[in-house]
Amino acid sequence: MDFLTASDIAHAEHPIAAPVAAEAVRALVRQLGPVPAGATFLDLGCGYGRWLMEALAAHPSATGVGVDRLLPAGLAQESTGRGLTGRVRWVEADAQDWTGDGLVDVVLCVGATHAFGGLDGTLQAVRRFLRPGGRLVLGDGIWDAPPSPAALEHLEIGADDMPDLAGLVELVQAEGWEPGHGHVSSLAEWDEYELSWTGSLTTWALHDAPTQQERTDALEIARSHRTAWLRGWRRHLGFATLVLHDVRPPGAA
Ligand SMILES: C[S@@+](CC[C@H](N)C(=O)[O-])C[C@H]1O[C@@H](n2cnc3c(N)ncnc32)[C@H](O)[C@@H]1O
Repeated sequence: MDFLTASDIAHAEHPIAAPVAAEAVRALVRQLGPVPAGATFLDLGCGYGRWLMEALAAHPSATGVGVDRLLPAGLAQESTGRGLTGRVRWVEADAQDWTGDGLVDVVLCVGATHAFGGLDGTLQAVRRFLRPGGRLVLGDGIWDAPPSPAALEHLEIGADDMPDLAGLVELVQAEGWEPGHGHVSSLAEWDEYELSWTGSLTTWALHDAPTQQERTDALEIARSHRTAWLRGWRRHLGFATLVLHDVRPPGAA
């Protein structure tokens, strides 16, 4: 079983592919500051599209485009079921190469900065798509606590590869963004996300897997993910989602 198939099964009950509760998503997309009538949204690395769909629900005259290099099956059906037909378009493309449809009012990029080679690359790439004075909803990993050797080993990164919350704020400010509202994921949100991830995959492996091989593979992926979380990054790895205001005045070049 490849990791993407496992990840699809793992997200069955937590389609927000980040340790963020649905209520927090709904609150944040209402905390963008002034959003003009008929605003345009762009979600880069949209995954199962939950951030974009909640944003469009919160701003009823807005339209949006969700881009992902691998669009999950059922996305169009989900957005139609939510009454968003004609207001949302799903595009399967590499966000790095995608040229877009002109400047938008709000860009969302949550858990997907790796699409642009990391945080710095994302903060720069987003300018290609965002109207001066617009907003970026950025979600990314932070250290909640100094990482243990086990956390670094299981995440396969170095301590300097990720900032803490203060470092994240300083970094975005240095790139010309001003943080407004935001959400720092709690330990309870992390636990809910990881338990849902491993729980969905385990349940599928033991009760729904069509073959013995898929049962074995899925169970092994769930077990090693659970160990990496519990023995590795739990309580160290954090996640912050910030509403970043583009400080370029509207109309700037
Ligand atoms: C952790 S998921 C987050 C999904 C969504 N933003 C959310 O929070 O629910 C990261 C997503 O980024 C997508 N992604 C990664 N690299 C990409 C790229 N170069 N272009 C487009 N999408 C990319 C992945 O396919 C995946 O759906």
